[in-house]
Amino acid sequence: MCGIIGYTGAKNSINIILSGLHRLEYRGYDSAGIALCPKNGEKLVVVKTPGKIIDLENSIQKAFTGTENRNYTLGIGHTRWATHGAPTLANAHPHLSRNGQFAIAHNGIIENYEELKARLIKQGYSFVSETDSEVIAHLIEECYEGDLRGAVAATVEKLDGAYGIVVISSKHPDTIVAARKGSPIAVGICDGETIIASDVSAIVNYTKKVIFLNDGDILTATSDNVDITSVKNIPVSREMTHIDWDIHDIEKGGYEHFMLKEIHEQPLALANGIRGRLLENEGTAKLNSMQMDPHHMARIDRIEIAACGTSYHAGMVGKYYFEDFASISTEIQQAAEFRDRNPIIHRDTCLIAISQSGETADTLAAVREAHQKGAIVLGICNVVGSTIARESGRGVYLHAGPEISVASTKAFTSQVSVLAMIAIAFARTRRLSITAGREVIHQLSKLPEIAENVIAQEPVIKKIAEKYAEARDFFYIGRGYMYPAALEGALKLKEISYIHAEGYHAAELKHGPIALLAKNVPVVALVPNVPAKIKTMSNMLECNARHAPVIAIATEGDKDINGLYDDVIRIPPCAEFLSPIPVVIAEQLLAYHIARIRGCPIDQPRNLAKSVTVE
Ligand code: AGP
Repeated sequence: MCGIIGYTGAKNSINIILSGLHRLEYRGYDSAGIALCPKNGEKLVVVKTPGKIIDLENSIQKAFTGTENRNYTLGIGHTRWATHGAPTLANAHPHLSRNGQFAIAHNGIIENYEELKARLIKQGYSFVSETDSEVIAHLIEECYEGDLRGAVAATVEKLDGAYGIVVISSKHPDTIVAARKGSPIAVGICDGETIIASDVSAIVNYTKKVIFLNDGDILTATSDNVDITSVKNIPVSREMTHIDWDIHDIEKGGYEHFMLKEIHEQPLALANGIRGRLLENEGTAKLNSMQMDPHHMARIDRIEIAACGTSYHAGMVGKYYFEDFASISTEIQQAAEFRDRNPIIHRDTCLIAISQSGETADTLAAVREAHQKGAIVLGICNVVGSTIARESGRGVYLHAGPEISVASTKAFTSQVSVLAMIAIAFARTRRLSITAGREVIHQLSKLPEIAENVIAQEPVIKKIAEKYAEARDFFYIGRGYMYPAALEGALKLKEISYIHAEGYHAAELKHGPIALLAKNVPVVALVPNVPAKIKTMSNMLECNARHAPVIAIATEGDKDINGLYDDVIRIPPCAEFLSPIPVVIAEQLLAYHIARIRGCPIDQPRNLAKSVTVE
């Protein structure tokens, strides 16, 4: 997903833009660029390059000698994740209009760019890139009649698809215009300067006062004024959000990778997520941000869960919670499938949309479709002010702190704990007694300690990783709560180590996959000390019989599984409903150390982005 940033103020914009682009590197990119406007409104200067920001910095050094670069107090920057056209200099952003007076940086996909491009070429515009984004620069020139905001508004009205754009012009040497539809734009409000970015991590070093644009908003910012209007130039007001984390939260803090840092942050993330929300005496959870009182919750007769990837696996655990605790019929769908299959929504259906980034396009589409059909929508997000959080209208934040590594770790365990709290709150409006509720809440309060104890097993897990790092195929198997954990363990391993890994319901082994078992195909068997363990133990025997090495993830002190595994990772005892959390933390560490041994770029795996904002 591309990163965009813009600055207008009294400082040298080059340094601010470059440091902002560094903060956005984690999103994954393959080219970068900057466009600058001198105070005197002379020619815009554009410097861009395929490759990394360090390459851009070298190019800027060559472009500017001496101190003249201090005149550039207005500028925009971009890190591009190639969608239309290879990562080349010509395709890198920012893009210039034909007359060189307008520069744009864009995040998103313009679906009707070919017809727009064909019309502009007929009118004499020439294109230098293969990108969809370049049409935006030429359209702004075409629409410009002296008012930059008006030109951007007229332009975006012609665009189909998703965009987050920042625009500067040599004709307005103090002004940045930004517009969004589907791709996030955050605006940092500081004294005498304005910083705009595609996510808060590029802003939070300068200010914690942030405004998030909604779809259809157009922002016009100078060094001392910020206006937000609709496309039709009707003023809109957007609330200011105070960001509750700071820059060191997105630093590595001495860890080799963000992923390892975020795995180790899970005890704190879980503690932050439950803090102030467990009402042990009443045997329930207090989640005011759901804006649903017991009267509301008691009337929900069906739950749909929509999510993608790791969030989908957390949602699978949530399904078990709503059915086991609250006896509410619950369906979970990949978000794309939910919105494409014309979901059956009754007036008392609640859609729960789960998204760490709060920007995943398919999940956002599911939220919009559910609203369209009259469902109550709850968003479970980590990023405050994210689009899914805002458009859901109500929900629960994870408070897990920023998750930088592409592979989601602390978000998963925090999502599971939030789903448990929501399910308990719903269940207490039904058959869950205050006594039973108190016990469940008490178990939840142990989560930070449980997470701590698993992480303490890291030295054992590292050794196991060394033994299996060269495998080419892995299986993960589990039953009940361990089935989503098996899928999540396989996803973690494949996405950061590039080893082919598949998660299966343990009972499914004999319906085909067992044909693949061999001595060089390790099987991770998830057998915490819960009733379903007994049947999975027989699957372990099937693996032993085919000489497939078995890595068991089992409860400390459980001797039942002895003799059935080649290696074992021990996790602390916990209530069955919480078992996905310690098990998945063990899987995260196993995947991390295997990927580290294989020398993989763990935080930015090939082909992946932290948030998939395109469908
Ligand atoms: C998980 O490790 C992946 N990065 C990916 O599956 C991710 O969970 C998925 O894209 C959903 O992202 P979201 O939670 O931000 O919506």
